[in-house]
Amino acid sequence: MTQYDVTLEWPDDGTDTVAVSPTETVLEVALREGIRLPYDCREGTCITCVGRVLAAGGDETPGAEEAVDAADAFDYRRQPKALTEDERANGYVLLCIAVPRADCRVAVGPMVRSEVGDSPWS
Ligand code: FES
Repeated sequence: MTQYDVTLEWPDDGTDTVAVSPTETVLEVALREGIRLPYDCREGTCITCVGRVLAAGGDETPGAEEAVDAADAFDYRRQPKALTEDERANGYVLLCIAVPRADCRVAVGPMVRSEVGDSPWS
């Protein structure tokens, strides 16, 4: 079965890479492997698990600051209600319901959470 490598980049420059199949979300695999990604609802409504896609599909330009559309890297199991269309287009992704479509790198942690607004659903 196809799997994609999702590399989670933490604010302290640490990384964790998880291999995610199309039947699982990034959060499910991370938790199984003991990685402490923040989460709450697990339904795409609270925004606690948000990350920001840095690169997808090996299309990587070191040092580039351009936003990657999260749709290039992930499909969703359900509607990501906690994010606006603009946030999604700027690379923000809800890892609790996200299934990767490509190898990718994703920034995670409290700094990413502080970059987006509060969810209207939480
Ligand atoms: S854990 Fe609530 S949106 Fe992901």
